[in-house]
Amino acid sequence: MTRPRLLVVSMSLPVTAKRTGDESWSFTMSPGGLVSALLGLKEFETKWIGWPGVDVHDAVGKETLSIALAEKGCIPVFLEEVCDQYYNGYCNNILWPIFHYLGTPPEYRNDATITYQSQYDAYKKANQIFFDVVKEHYQEGDVVWCHDYHVMLLPQYLKEYNSKMKVGWFLHTPFPSSEMYKTLPSRSDLLHSVLTADLVGFHTYDFARHFVNACTSILGVEATSEGVVDQGKVTRVAVFPIGIEPERFINTSELTEVIQYMKQFKNDFGGRKLILGVDRLDMVKGIPQKYQAFEKFLEENEDWRGKVMLLQIAVPTRNGIGEYQKIKDQCHGLVGRINGRFGSISAVPIIHLDCAIDFNQLCALYAITDVLLVTSLRDGMNLVSSEFVACQNAEKGVLILSEFAGAGQSLGAGALLVNPWNLKEVSTAIGEALNMSPKEKERKHKINFQYVKTHSTQQWADDFMNKLNETTTNGELRN
Ligand code: UDP
Ligand code: G6P
Repeated sequence: MTRPRLLVVSMSLPVTAKRTGDESWSFTMSPGGLVSALLGLKEFETKWIGWPGVDVHDAVGKETLSIALAEKGCIPVFLEEVCDQYYNGYCNNILWPIFHYLGTPPEYRNDATITYQSQYDAYKKANQIFFDVVKEHYQEGDVVWCHDYHVMLLPQYLKEYNSKMKVGWFLHTPFPSSEMYKTLPSRSDLLHSVLTADLVGFHTYDFARHFVNACTSILGVEATSEGVVDQGKVTRVAVFPIGIEPERFINTSELTEVIQYMKQFKNDFGGRKLILGVDRLDMVKGIPQKYQAFEKFLEENEDWRGKVMLLQIAVPTRNGIGEYQKIKDQCHGLVGRINGRFGSISAVPIIHLDCAIDFNQLCALYAITDVLLVTSLRDGMNLVSSEFVACQNAEKGVLILSEFAGAGQSLGAGALLVNPWNLKEVSTAIGEALNMSPKEKERKHKINFQYVKTHSTQQWADDFMNKLNETTTNGELRN
């Protein structure tokens, strides 16, 4: 059976472009779980529409970049002058903090011309630009799958253009309680638009329930067992917890180069137990809280000093926003203090890296890690937890997982769940993980490994597409 073409639309393309000459480009992988996850979609004929991560103002640049991206199945969206107020402003300084319960920071740049309205206007304009590109590439029968908070107005633009288009929208972040969501001035417009999609998906039941509550309390629409009914139009709302592509991680962990890295790292770490953190350097990841909890652990467990280290990969993200620069300084300050207090001439307790690392090195680190420490204050899913589980085999490390990560609902049974705000609790969990018996580690690992193996990205996408097809077919029968 031939499958429909899938147009994936997200703010970021899987690759970020860098101009290396008038007509030449180089590419690196874009950060974040959305990209990692969607790269695992293998069984669809997919075109990916998104921003290439760079401003291009000249025709030659646009053309040569479009050609280079076409070879990767990608179509660029050029956002030009709206990009800053859209991406740094409305998306990442207004929606992102509200969706993660941080409230709205007053400004992302000290500039009186930037207002809520100017950022929302940029958001509308950017969604229009995304729409224009989808329209240009859409063929009858295509499924358009919109991803994340960057494109909440897109479903409405698409359906107004062609009501028969099959449109899905999936949110990769939490959807907050309606009490928090209500603070957003454009709350109704965004909900109305999302409800024009045929299917709306979330990672957890809580996020879906919050969304439905927001729709009923703000729009006064009706909630049903299937989703939401708005002026007779049914929008299905459902839960699809995303996974990873487990084989990619399992197979990579077995490569000779990766095994070499494992040996090298173990040697470098001098026999100390390894606690690993892998996060974008984002406020919602709770990296300062992680450092404070580790500091507490070292304070209270003198015997472990010099025998355990924390390696934090802090992938740079959203550097155009002041808050993100502040969190970096805060982390550096804490690392300095803790290393000063507990370091020795031969070793420091924390290594903090402000960079992304190579995939093979990442898999090697996951494989030799004794404790993966995830302290997200809020997180849509957190794929790093699943990746760690997939790479762990002989060593069978322990996962300490924040109860505020979506992954807590799927991997909680094989993890130590913690409240990252409770430093004492996290510190105790670190001790418990480091002292856990091999038998208990194996028991926990087995539970999570089984889950990760059987909940792949492809399965997630298949489930979403099947439900979308079922929804649109039922809709046609009703009409
Ligand atoms: N990651 C990466 N390079 C690195 C560190 C991490 O590509 O140096 C990836 C990691 O493998 C994971 C993603 O970044 O797939 C982070 O996804 P997650 O869902 O944990 O968090 P998000 O960044 O989406 O909030
Ligand atoms: C999260 C969001 C994604 C985003 C990623 C990286 O995972 O849900 O939509 O792509 O963070 O953020 P960035 O702003 O660097 O694209």
